[in-house]
Amino acid sequence: MHPHKPIAGLAKPVAYRELKAQLAGLFADERDGLANAANTAAVLYHGLPDLNWAGFYLLRAGELVLGPFQGRVACVRIALGSGVCGTAAQRRDAVVVPDVHAFPGHIACDANSRSEIVLPLVQHGRLLGVLDLDSPSLDRFDEEDRMGLSAIVDLLLESSDLSRFID
Ligand code: SME
Repeated sequence: MHPHKPIAGLAKPVAYRELKAQLAGLFADERDGLANAANTAAVLYHGLPDLNWAGFYLLRAGELVLGPFQGRVACVRIALGSGVCGTAAQRRDAVVVPDVHAFPGHIACDANSRSEIVLPLVQHGRLLGVLDLDSPSLDRFDEEDRMGLSAIVDLLLESSDLSRFID
């Protein structure tokens, strides 16, 4: 994929900077973690092209439990190490899956999903959950998405009190 392929009329790094600025405005007077995660899901889902799901799983009693999201109904509980989300959480590293059918253990919540990116939420060394984006297109996510989303996760973590939603 061309590194500067336009996304919604903008190069990806420019689009991510704009979305991050929009979120920084929303977070300026609000530290509630659930509210800020919910608005992050909405900004990403409506601001990025070619997605069919965007949202969070939060770590509760040692497993990932569905959090704020946009898209179709999704599976509620994912064990650490399971699927793309559980793999990213266990590794504490982003996982980019160009073709979900080729990822062993992929959990199909929406049969339309073809590619996926998951980033862990880690604050002060503590795993809080993951951010998950799904696309109906093969190979939708690349390094520019990983970097842009990583900057957005960092902003969310520094701007919000998420830890009280985690047990
Ligand atoms: N596909 C994910 C499950 C979550 S849904 O895509 C929203 C996985 O394999 O972990």
